[in-house]
Amino acid sequence: MFKKIEEAVSFIRSKSSLQPLVGVILGSGLGDVVDAIEADVVIPYGDIPGARASSVVGHSGKLVLGRAGAVPVVVMQGRTHFYEGYSMDEVMFLARVIGRLGITRLVVTNAAGGVNKGYSAGDLMLISDHINFLGLNPLRGPNIDELGTRFPDMSAAYPQELRDIALLVAEDVGIKVQEGVYLALSGPSYETPAEIHAFRVLGADAVGMSTVPEVIAMSHMGIPVLGISCITNMAAGILPQKLAHAEVIETTRRVQKEFTALVLGVLKRFGEKPVG
Ligand code: HPA
Repeated sequence: MFKKIEEAVSFIRSKSSLQPLVGVILGSGLGDVVDAIEADVVIPYGDIPGARASSVVGHSGKLVLGRAGAVPVVVMQGRTHFYEGYSMDEVMFLARVIGRLGITRLVVTNAAGGVNKGYSAGDLMLISDHINFLGLNPLRGPNIDELGTRFPDMSAAYPQELRDIALLVAEDVGIKVQEGVYLALSGPSYETPAEIHAFRVLGADAVGMSTVPEVIAMSHMGIPVLGISCITNMAAGILPQKLAHAEVIETTRRVQKEFTALVLGVLKRFGEKPVG
């Protein structure tokens, strides 16, 4: 696996000499951030040795190396999900590749259902922590010693310091943000009302089907993460209506401008404030 990761890294380096400082993973329908990136190179996932293309509508699947303002970044537009049938190694693959490209921070984004009854569809939530309900740990199997330790610490996967920067940006651009706990499930069926009730009791504020494998991969590699969830709908049983992927896409479209302003503001600040 490590050899495959390094092959993909070499391939990307052969396409661009840009050294990215920050990585970004864009979730369902949240791809407009790339329009503001001055691209050095755009690589379809299908061209990267070892990478898999996502089959989900709203996930286009390309890697963009370029600059957000002055900050060199690498952006994953689209991701693969466990529910598509990929192995966890496949789901984590590109996150590990951009980790090996030398990013010092990752901004990970997703669409999520609101579990906290104080939230509304269209809210943006900074992820303060997560609960892994995927049914397995993505690092299960032989440890890749070159990437990190066998038993990675998860107590500061989403450092407060990065959220504080995002809060400043949100204030600057006039966006209200929530802060809360993201609970990950494998999907693809949405949850039942009883499950959502149980998750609320457990301390979840939002639910989704992604992000946690990539964040665990980052903790393994020692890379701090800022997570941003777009609350695209209230989770099952909260409102008297059924859940549909069309609503998820519709809400991401509606909040695209605010979301993009938040992410770009964060990238700029991350560029100004080196790690340490
Ligand atoms: N549940 C799980 N994943 C989701 C949801 C949801 O309600 N909305 C967007 N992704």
